[in-house]
Amino acid sequence: MKSQLEKLLAPFDQTHLLQFWNELDNAEQANLAKQINALDLELIQTLFENQGSDGQWEQLAARANVPPAITLGDFSNSEAFEEASSAGEGLLKSGKLGMILVAGGQGSRLGFDHPKGMFPIGPVSRRTLYQMHFEQVLARSKQFGATIPLYVMTSPPTHEETTKFLSENNFFGIPPADIKIFCQGVMPAVDENGRLLLESKGKIFVSPDGHGGTLAAFVKSGCLDDATSRGVEHLFYGQVDNPLLQICEPALIGHHLIRGSEMTSQVVRKNDPTQKVGNVVEVDGKVQIIEYSDLPRQYAQQLNEDGSLKLWAGSIAVHVFTLDFLKRSSQSADALPFHRANKVVSFVDHDGTQVTPTQPNAIKFERFIFDLLPSANNAIVCEVAPEDGFCALKNAPPATSETEEHVKAAISSLHSRWLEAVGATVEPGTQIEINPLFAVDQKELESRVNRGTTFNQPTYLK
Ligand code: UD1
Repeated sequence: MKSQLEKLLAPFDQTHLLQFWNELDNAEQANLAKQINALDLELIQTLFENQGSDGQWEQLAARANVPPAITLGDFSNSEAFEEASSAGEGLLKSGKLGMILVAGGQGSRLGFDHPKGMFPIGPVSRRTLYQMHFEQVLARSKQFGATIPLYVMTSPPTHEETTKFLSENNFFGIPPADIKIFCQGVMPAVDENGRLLLESKGKIFVSPDGHGGTLAAFVKSGCLDDATSRGVEHLFYGQVDNPLLQICEPALIGHHLIRGSEMTSQVVRKNDPTQKVGNVVEVDGKVQIIEYSDLPRQYAQQLNEDGSLKLWAGSIAVHVFTLDFLKRSSQSADALPFHRANKVVSFVDHDGTQVTPTQPNAIKFERFIFDLLPSANNAIVCEVAPEDGFCALKNAPPATSETEEHVKAAISSLHSRWLEAVGATVEPGTQIEINPLFAVDQKELESRVNRGTTFNQPTYLK
């Protein structure tokens, strides 16, 4: 077996992967062989060699314009809003909308020892991110009297624990027949010389292949067929880390339908040129996202005459796809390019010593789902106010943004505003949390809370 593997690896200068072969027991050898046989060595070599794209983002940024957008200003036109809402509601009632929730990331910045979706984030209830999202899906299905099949993407590091957690909690009320948990693929990482890294003597280091892995995994797992057989025509996509996510929001879906868009993205107006969100722009007539880390500062800082940011649209990673578009994209193996990221990866060196570097030592390759945008017909973006739809949990203190504290405050503040808008009073500093099964939005809350009620104690309405 070893010589066969050597033959595979030698043309790519990767035979060091077998360096500790003789120290491995049979099972370890079999596992390593399986990993090696699954590698696409040619692809890895090409990805490593294609380093010359550094100027690519600068060139794109120089030609970037604002994308076609439905802004909050447009939403204040109540006729257009009503039209979009009713189109979206129509789709929800017809049962032709499904949802993808991506939760395959390892949440390393958060320093939480479990899949991020298990983080207790309810400011009063301590509900987990998963529970919050699942209950909102359930609330939307109840609101419109139709099933919304839910597809949750995990990754090899998060799959088992997530599946166990969700099934132990009875999927927070979602009927098991209406939920599928599917696992994304992985990619190895290389060092500065393009050599694959060993995590241990018998195991190649791999990590999730980016949320762009959704596309291939959605097909491979049978989820695409499942959605097709249920008559699903559109998919709402969101990330597990944003508890303000407005799941299957009718007006957003309505605009997507009315414009005949194959992929619609929800955005916020950036509060700072360098805010850590993808920049949704239009280049040569195509909508696309330039990731925050790729947009050169001088382009990020461009201003309009009135002093506002030119490239204002920050992606919150909420998309609506037509199923046909996902199907068509999945048939092209190159639909999504790989991005490179320099990361710290602990590895076993040639002496067999475990090394944990303090500086990035590895290049990881990841695909991003938003790279589908340029190939979507009639792609549009829709603005949402950040306080209504976006506050992601990313960091642990001492970070000063996107921490548990910020996110809890944002949830409480949103729900307090809903209460005040329907005529209640929330005394300053009072923590408020509303379960979507009590009221999924401000409109539903109107009939559930008496005008004039005062809240001055931590309150969880459920
Ligand atoms: C991401 C977006 C950014 C957007 C921001 C909004 C990328 C590259 N950038 O940034 O444009 O403005 O969110 O919050 O995504 N995930 C997987 N599998 C993976 C990797 C990630 O499912 O292999 C999921 C994570 O579970 C998470 C989401 O994707 O739900 C975002 O991943 P993260 O690495 O946190 O992205 P950001 O850099 O914060």
